[in-house]
Amino acid sequence: MTDAPPSTPLADQTAYAEAVQLALDAAAAYYGDGTSTLDDDAYDRLLRGIQAYEDEHPDEVLPTSPTGKVAGGAVVGDVPHLVPMLSLDNVFSAQQLADWAASLERRLGRPVTRWSVEPKLDGLAISARYRHGRLVQLVTRGDGTAGEDVSHAIGTIAGLPARLAEPVTVELRGEVMMTTSQFEDACAKRQAHDGTTFANPRSAAAGTLRAQDRPYVCELTFFGYGALPYPDDPSEQAASLRELPHSEIMTWVAEQGVQTTATTPVAGIVAETLAQVQERIERIATVRPGLSFNIDGIVIKCNSAADQALAGFGSRAPRWAIAYKLPATEKITKLVGVEWNTGRTGVIAPRAVLEPVELDGSIVTYATLHNVADITRRGLMLGDSVVVYKAGDVIPRVEAPVVHLRTGAEQPIAIPQVCPSCGDAIDTSQERWRCVRGRACRAIASISYAVGRDQLDVEGLANSRIEQMLDAGLITDFADLFFLTHEQILALDRMGETSTAKLIAAIEAAKSSPLNRTFCALGVRGTGRSMSRRIARHFGTMDAILAADADAIRAVEGMGTEKATLMLEELTELQPLIDKLKKAGVNMSEPGVEPAELSGKTAAAATASELPLAGMSVVVTGSMTGKLEALSRNEVNELIERAGGRASSSVSAKTSLLVAGEKAGSKRAKAEALGVHIVTPDGFAAQVAAFF
Ligand code: IVH
Repeated sequence: MTDAPPSTPLADQTAYAEAVQLALDAAAAYYGDGTSTLDDDAYDRLLRGIQAYEDEHPDEVLPTSPTGKVAGGAVVGDVPHLVPMLSLDNVFSAQQLADWAASLERRLGRPVTRWSVEPKLDGLAISARYRHGRLVQLVTRGDGTAGEDVSHAIGTIAGLPARLAEPVTVELRGEVMMTTSQFEDACAKRQAHDGTTFANPRSAAAGTLRAQDRPYVCELTFFGYGALPYPDDPSEQAASLRELPHSEIMTWVAEQGVQTTATTPVAGIVAETLAQVQERIERIATVRPGLSFNIDGIVIKCNSAADQALAGFGSRAPRWAIAYKLPATEKITKLVGVEWNTGRTGVIAPRAVLEPVELDGSIVTYATLHNVADITRRGLMLGDSVVVYKAGDVIPRVEAPVVHLRTGAEQPIAIPQVCPSCGDAIDTSQERWRCVRGRACRAIASISYAVGRDQLDVEGLANSRIEQMLDAGLITDFADLFFLTHEQILALDRMGETSTAKLIAAIEAAKSSPLNRTFCALGVRGTGRSMSRRIARHFGTMDAILAADADAIRAVEGMGTEKATLMLEELTELQPLIDKLKKAGVNMSEPGVEPAELSGKTAAAATASELPLAGMSVVVTGSMTGKLEALSRNEVNELIERAGGRASSSVSAKTSLLVAGEKAGSKRAKAEALGVHIVTPDGFAAQVAAFF
């Protein structure tokens, strides 16, 4: 995973003092109205720089420095906490986690009994005080010693009931946040009210929690991560809560009707060993992009109350817990330009050009802006500081401008009046703008895609040749290629007998491509190579695909509702092209897959269980040798799927098999750490020999 991000180096006392002020301002804004001049990562880096300077110059430490404070100098409320609300120390790699665990065990003088592993929720810490089962007060963390009373928010936080199942007196601690849909809803309400949106779910939650006189109400979500009896409570129930392991406290909290992460894909677990802890960390990191709420790490705690008591607390954080931070998925950077492109399907899409920024382990320079309405809705301007989001394989996107960082030099974004590709008119009747020529606008691009190596694999059809054929009126789409005669091709510039014969043969051979390739060649939005393979294996024939409704399409693995609807729409539009392909005699079925039965059982389900890789998730890495050497990565993936497996590009706890060729790097190391079975390309080729 990641190593510790660098800190901001501070050269001298002046730079140190400026950095302290910058951090204080950012913390005040963040805990104030939920805006911030710095993103999380920049703030953490700054704080580490301040800490490093203070470590070297202990006599120059400013009394206002945020390093000694729990919440970095946040707005302090006037409600004292019954028990301080501390922070957590951070680690950034498996090695740092192991070092921390070793030092903790040295302190305990024995191994940690069991670990609890749960997501680190990216919201705001809150204390919810219940008396006799009734929610009586809500207090923010503030500076950790005292917080602000935000009881006015009671009733607007999903997962935090006004009454518990039992009439108990207890303080619950957890995180207040906004789920993705709550965030979208809040942005829409704010947009309708004053034309602005929130920068991200956390700042929206922070602002919403403190807001008292907004004319609109935005819902929040609570996830509990702890329960404390009141310090002076002598009852038996309080005594037993003090002794329960953390995992059992969380079960009890859920039984009281309070939301915990137990109902989510990243539920807290108990681990016996550090290897299991690391495995869970990897798992949580893998599923993070698909969660409906933000997390920024994983919290590892001693599960047993006795271990916690023995480890005790430092001044800022408990010694029995640590936060394993995941790479930032959101940062603030500059919007330096907007490019407009007409895609293969004629859709005109804006793309943000950004000042390069590192997000979730890679450098991001471009981000999607979706469509014109999105730009207007967000009120974006050229030169704006913008919040950019990227996690996993998600396409980076611009979330919102940071309006309070505007300098006045920002410029409006120019919206195209004609198609940027062909100069024809734009159909603006839908939110997604399209060239009036539709797919024909980008005919060269869509035909060149269709005949590419991973689709119909027609050799000898360079873009210049396609252009020539289009100009000569011989073709309008790739299905027309199958009707070309020898004479028509020979008549083209720079075509001889031999090259014509070769091209005709390549086109003829493409007619027997498996369905997955023909389907992929159609260029249906949202269905690339691997999705096309899944669709072909699922349905078996083009007719079965065309007969499917949205529900049937959604049954394909990895197909969401949005993609299914889009696919239906696109297939209707592509029907004439598909008919033309059929007429040309192009193969419309997937070899090795029985056509779907009338019973409704899908073709894949009918045969899959007997195949050698049935139910297995297979990853291929490194350079291939032997029989696999001649195949492209796409062809190897096709082979895996013909043999009943699922080809995946990343190793996770779910991976069943890694095919590791020469120079296999981090994927091999990860597979070894997770205990995934590893085979050589030759071993694998033997296993699937019947499917080449
Ligand atoms: S336990 C004594 N568990 O992270 C502090 N905290 O950076 C024990 N947080 O202030 C906190 N998810 O607001 C704990 N599963 C989780 C958490 C979690 C998020 C927050 C919490 C804390 C902050 C520290």
